[in-house]
Amino acid sequence: MGKSSQISGFYKLSTQERAKIVKEFANLTDEEVGLIRATGALKLEQADRMIENVIGVMPVPLGIAVNFLINGKDYLIPMAIEEPSVVAAASNAAKMARVKGGFTTNSTAPIMIGQIQAVHVVDPHRAKLEILSAKEEIIKKANEQDPILVSLGGGAKDIEVKVIDTITGQMVITELLVDCRDAMGANAVNTMAEAVTPLIEKITLGKVYLRIISNLATKRLARAKAIFAKEALGGEEVVDGIIEAYAFAAADPYRCATHNKGIMNGITAVVLATGNDTRAIEAGAHAYAARSGQYIPLTVWEKNNDGDLVGTIELPMAVGLVGGATASHPIAKIAIKILGVKTATELGEVIAAVGLAQNLAALKELATIGIQKGHMALHARNIAIMAGATGELIDKVAEALAKEGKVRLDRAKQFVEQFIKQEASK
Ligand code: MEV
Repeated sequence: MGKSSQISGFYKLSTQERAKIVKEFANLTDEEVGLIRATGALKLEQADRMIENVIGVMPVPLGIAVNFLINGKDYLIPMAIEEPSVVAAASNAAKMARVKGGFTTNSTAPIMIGQIQAVHVVDPHRAKLEILSAKEEIIKKANEQDPILVSLGGGAKDIEVKVIDTITGQMVITELLVDCRDAMGANAVNTMAEAVTPLIEKITLGKVYLRIISNLATKRLARAKAIFAKEALGGEEVVDGIIEAYAFAAADPYRCATHNKGIMNGITAVVLATGNDTRAIEAGAHAYAARSGQYIPLTVWEKNNDGDLVGTIELPMAVGLVGGATASHPIAKIAIKILGVKTATELGEVIAAVGLAQNLAALKELATIGIQKGHMALHARNIAIMAGATGELIDKVAEALAKEGKVRLDRAKQFVEQFIKQEASK
């Protein structure tokens, strides 16, 4: 019989006791347990306070993308990501953008939407009207929940109400519009949405079920723009190739998913490095891309009168600087310091610029030499390590693999053996 994963009281154990149970369950070696528990800057006690049932940490490389000039200010961009070439690609694109002055950005106010779902409302349009009439009272009740946010100029600002048709009947959805200032805002918004529920039930005479923030943050958008000189890209043909790549994504969801994935390579890496909620950003980005009913690219690429390439990006950007892991994770705090951003809005705009740069880099590669050449050169190092190369041998094997154009584990193992033999016979 297999071992049971039903372990009562697991949460009450220390991280060490939990690790011991997992070790026995999965036949981990002492070395493997040691690796999981080797924490670096994020101590086990801190990790244990962040989530539940902690046994260790999962380190991800933190790289720095260089060359970013955004609104005339230079930034170094911390990126936490396991995928090779992403950081190099962002840096290259940012370098090309500098020729025409770098990135310019803007954004909306940091407004998040909190949804309150009322069902079994007999006269939903009457209810909608009366909720709108009670706007001041609802906003007052919401703002009583977070006097600090209100004192900073944030808080609930407005409400919107919609009647929607669903498979279980009509529903009255009240949306609280909350200015979250430098917070991501989930806690503030959810607390407010819960607090106004009795009022909504009193007015609608229905039953309220869900009271929760929406990750489709259409009122908290970040935008970035950059012009890429045709000479910097390698000529007007490259510009045309990139526009063809964009047109492909705009017309076909299969290509578009990959196009947007490339954008999210950059965005998610900065979101993670700064301790923000990667899933919230990903959900918002993809839902925003599909908002018209057709899934479209988050970026737009055009050619201007000079034949240069103009890129723009717009997407929801619910990131914060206060609260959550951003304020408590020791590495996230350092990432924010490296970025030098002063507000969540500034952080969001920088992230949008990184997404645009990442997309440009991918499309340029795809429309010219193809993605594999550069990718494989970096990937070759990983394969070399997997094949047992250490120290100087890693680069030697990687180089041999890349030169041959066959970045495969079996070939890497042959090279490792070959080079070790050569070394021994010297
Ligand atoms: C790989 O992680 C990302 C790309 O596939 C993006 C794209 O195709 O645009 C290169």
